[in-house]
Amino acid sequence: RIAGPCVLVIFGVTGDLSTKKLMPAVYDLANRGLLPPGFALVGFARRDWAHQDFAKIVHDAVRQHARTPFREEVWRQLSEGIRFVPGEIGDDASFDKLQRTINDLDEARGTGGNHAFYLSIPPGLFQTVVDQLRSHGLADQQAGRWSRVVIEKPFGHDLASAKELNRIVSEVFPPWSVFRIDHYLGKETVQNLMALRFANQMFEPVWNNNYVDHVQITMAENIGIGGRAGYFDGIGIARDVIQNHLLQLLALTAMEEPNSFEAGQLRNEKQKVLAATRPPARMDLHTARGRYAGGWAGGEKVRGYLEEERIPADSKTETYAAIRVDIDNRRWAGVPFYLRTGKRLARRVTEIALAFKRAPHLPFTATDTEELGHNALVLRIQPDEGITLRFGAKVPGTQMEIREVNMDFAYGGSFTEASPEAYERLILDVLLGDPPLFPHHEEVELSWEILDPVLDYWASLDEPPQDYQPGGWGPALADEMLARDGRAWRRP
Ligand code: BG6
Repeated sequence: RIAGPCVLVIFGVTGDLSTKKLMPAVYDLANRGLLPPGFALVGFARRDWAHQDFAKIVHDAVRQHARTPFREEVWRQLSEGIRFVPGEIGDDASFDKLQRTINDLDEARGTGGNHAFYLSIPPGLFQTVVDQLRSHGLADQQAGRWSRVVIEKPFGHDLASAKELNRIVSEVFPPWSVFRIDHYLGKETVQNLMALRFANQMFEPVWNNNYVDHVQITMAENIGIGGRAGYFDGIGIARDVIQNHLLQLLALTAMEEPNSFEAGQLRNEKQKVLAATRPPARMDLHTARGRYAGGWAGGEKVRGYLEEERIPADSKTETYAAIRVDIDNRRWAGVPFYLRTGKRLARRVTEIALAFKRAPHLPFTATDTEELGHNALVLRIQPDEGITLRFGAKVPGTQMEIREVNMDFAYGGSFTEASPEAYERLILDVLLGDPPLFPHHEEVELSWEILDPVLDYWASLDEPPQDYQPGGWGPALADEMLARDGRAWRRP
């Protein structure tokens, strides 16, 4: 699967995403031989740069963040196709320049009029950019060539704004040419979730409410918001990652088997399960939010959220969120799905844990049977990618003492191939026009329908989110939320 000749234009090349993820991913693809010699990369931004200045920025980003080793000959070939267009997105002349640059590349590099436009810019600017692309003939869908647009989350900040964004983009780009990036879908371990479920016979029979007690989906980070106050404050972590990454993980965990991995089939199944997912039944009991306080974490003194730069003193933005949702279908009725995410927690870990029901009868006299019989299957999305099965085993000795043990599959132990970065896979799929790993706008809307009532409820509260200590596992409210259900969060 090697992409054909094309031009990739990135709007917003001065942003973090571009330097840390997009540019290195392009290089890694080239290094793996997955980009054709004719490939060209165009940066567009409000900077007074020449082509070489931009090439230098890409070079530095690659040296710093690429996954694969640096090879002069790969870089030389890639850099020959690097161009920069200085400009304002509202300015016609800048787009004239962009158009000329692209046309020249089409000639010089044989890119055949195939163009992808990556909008790594705030959604408020989408309208202007897509209108400019249209009026400069860059969005035309002509036979034998393609024009695609790539958009990044946040896909709006609620259902209404998501619909509006979709309207703006779809007025110019037809559905098959719109690629929405949720980088979690580009992760190997997330795709492996489908392999685990559907390439094997032994998991699906227990993957339902006959055997599963509840599911916990955790995305924890040990970092704070860093320099992202402008993006994060007022948005909060629920919009930042529950609406997209965590609900996508839920959909892949809970969906029925698609007939094939063709995009339409896969989306259908994800949509069905998202449509069956109810928002939390009782907002006061089934949601919890928190905000990291200042203190010590990992031997380091860290600032609280309110002390971070550019955070207003009266901010009510949450940096931790947990919700319980239920899925109204035959497979999952009665099995709560608990989703949680937070910044400045004990460690960076993303996992999906299926907690099984207890064995119906425990014929042991052991004293600690309370703990026993809660088998769990844990899919470790990152880091330490792998799968763990937790079950009870007899402790060697003369007594029938049972203890929980782990059976582990680690990616590193079974595969020598390093996993490509999520963005590598996704950028390649954009260039190939391969849509299964990109959420459809219907999924985006269904996800907002689940989250909107939670956000409305939180907005209606007078008090700010509950403080939690950095380096721990979040606010007391979240623990109480599970304790009320007779359960406890895992401490991965
Ligand atoms: C992004 C969020 O989508 O995912 C960030 O906006 C978060 O807040 C990041 O830090 C985490 O990504 P990953 O791949 O490191 O888990």
